[in-house]
Amino acid sequence: MTKIKFYVTTPIYYVNDVPHIGHAYTTIAADTISRYKRLKGYEVLFLTGTDEHGQKVEKTAISNNETPKALADRVVLRFKKLWEKLNISNDAFIRTTEERHKKAVAALFKIVQEKGDIYKGMYEDWYCTPCEAFFTELQLVNGKCPDCGRPVEKLKEESYFFKMSKYQDALLKFYDENPDFIQPATRKNEIISFVKGGLKDLSISRTSFKWGIPVPGDERHVIYVWFDALTNYLTAAGFPDNKERFNKYWPADLHIIGKDILRFHAVYWPTFLMSAGLPLPKKVFGHGWWTVEGEKMSKSKGNVVDPYQMIDEFGADAFRYFLLREVPFGLDGDFSKAALTQRFNSDLANDLGNLLSRIITMVFKFFDGVIPSPHPDIKIELKENPIEKSKEVFKSIEGYMENLEFDRTLKSIWEFVNVTNTYIDKSAPWALAKDDAKKKELSNIIYNSAEAMRQIAYLIFPFMPSTAEKICRQLGIKEEIVSADFDKGKKWGGLEPNTTVIKGEHLFPRIVAEEKLEGKKKMEKKEETNLIAIDDFAKIDLRVGKIIEAEKVEKSDKLVKLQVELGNEKRQVVAGIAKHYAPEDLTGKKIILVANLKPAKLMGIESQGMVLAASDGDILTLATFEKDIPSGSKVK
Ligand code: ME8
Ligand code: MG
Repeated sequence: MTKIKFYVTTPIYYVNDVPHIGHAYTTIAADTISRYKRLKGYEVLFLTGTDEHGQKVEKTAISNNETPKALADRVVLRFKKLWEKLNISNDAFIRTTEERHKKAVAALFKIVQEKGDIYKGMYEDWYCTPCEAFFTELQLVNGKCPDCGRPVEKLKEESYFFKMSKYQDALLKFYDENPDFIQPATRKNEIISFVKGGLKDLSISRTSFKWGIPVPGDERHVIYVWFDALTNYLTAAGFPDNKERFNKYWPADLHIIGKDILRFHAVYWPTFLMSAGLPLPKKVFGHGWWTVEGEKMSKSKGNVVDPYQMIDEFGADAFRYFLLREVPFGLDGDFSKAALTQRFNSDLANDLGNLLSRIITMVFKFFDGVIPSPHPDIKIELKENPIEKSKEVFKSIEGYMENLEFDRTLKSIWEFVNVTNTYIDKSAPWALAKDDAKKKELSNIIYNSAEAMRQIAYLIFPFMPSTAEKICRQLGIKEEIVSADFDKGKKWGGLEPNTTVIKGEHLFPRIVAEEKLEGKKKMEKKEETNLIAIDDFAKIDLRVGKIIEAEKVEKSDKLVKLQVELGNEKRQVVAGIAKHYAPEDLTGKKIILVANLKPAKLMGIESQGMVLAASDGDILTLATFEKDIPSGSKVK
């Protein structure tokens, strides 16, 4: 069976600057869609690269006292290394200084020239170097660049022009016939009205600097950096010499870019291609813009988010997850470490990480580390259960992924995670384990939970590839997800019974926020000055208590009602430990009781004392005794 191709690209990034969160964002999105498409059986060509020519790069190099090529050689490594660290699975990487690309740009220029769409003239208007864009006097806003607001410079130089105006009507017709070309739809109108406002011919060469690809036959001119850069998408597909490759991959299926460069991709690029008689890309998606703690990111503000640092602090997968989960792909978003920490702790540590560790723990506890068999004949009473949820999720994410709705996809996968967590809570396997007659029920629940976990690994693979693989390793699955296909993930029952699971590290150990740590330190300091005298301590009557009965408090997921023996006395105590101890595991335990605490009512139940326990994040443990000792004994 021949596979259907899927050609997806990111912008090629300027090498005048080191990579930041914005570059990481686009590339992670492209990687996620590429991995998803591969799982769906497509033959993917995923391209990224660097934009190395132009005045901006030349200027930076001059101010660094190095050649533009040396600058590019240095910075390109920063990009490549970052993509490795982020687990980016690009199939191709292009640098615009490569010979194959120079050849492609010259070839495209010549085709357009032979078509009669290029003429020589005089350019007499404004230029914004940070944007590498031309503007007329009228387009300026308060004399500044209408796109970035920075100063522009007046140019007066000989230039080659591309007859872009000639394609205005054809372009509008194209938008009309291909309503999905510009995504998200909300950005379409601004592009259409820009084109309707009148397309002018475009200056496509410069003479006032040298760092670029020469105009064929007129070497005083270098080709405009955007004409050069956009052509990268053709070069990597084999243009102009490798016809077989080119026919296979071109046109691109999807250009993923930021909204800042939509005009170049949705207006200029199609007109160049129309002129050259080449097919147009199928879709251009202009995603939103990240601000940082409410402010625009800029070097001068010093608030540029370094992806390397985020990976060191949170790990590549958590960073990937956050960027795609936090904000709908077409909209702007705000980045903060607090928001990332919050998602890390709740979605990753609590929901996903804990689910895996509870499952593995139970497989060890109840089945000696070997996945038990399912018993599909046992009817599941719960309406929301992993088997039903799995069908629903696999179905709904298909549409979401087609539309690059990463946030909705992840939300939907997390519903599956949470339904599985609740399924375990409600089926209470620890209680079934006490009863030999319930062995089948127990093995069914454990199998279903582990199988749900396997499917979740497949679902999150495009977003968090190494986490997905870690889950599979702990579940004892030897095959790698990349080599499998999506249908394998989707089909309920893929996990082989009798597989030996492996106890591994928690996927996402909770992060204690810096502010909290600081708060703790402050408290510790305060405690030093808050020392108590021995008499103060003597006021607390601590006793050895023996738990003789324990039951869950109805309608509460935290509370357990305990009957505690204190020598000859008996006390009723309500304790908030239900999430950490099954009632059956409590009876018989010797604990420390604060025996002279004023009685209080919790959910209407009287509590006559308090049980001592230590906790840290998700862990809670009762304080107990090393040796056996009669209940009622004093603790001091
Ligand atoms: O424009 N939020 O390169 P570039 C989200 N070389 N995405 C952001 C972002 C932010 N704050 N900042 C940057 C160029 N990006 C040209 C492209 S393509 C033929 C030539 C991302 O280094 C976003 O994808 O300025 C944006 O389009 C891209 O980086 C611009 O990167
Ligand atoms: Mg930029």
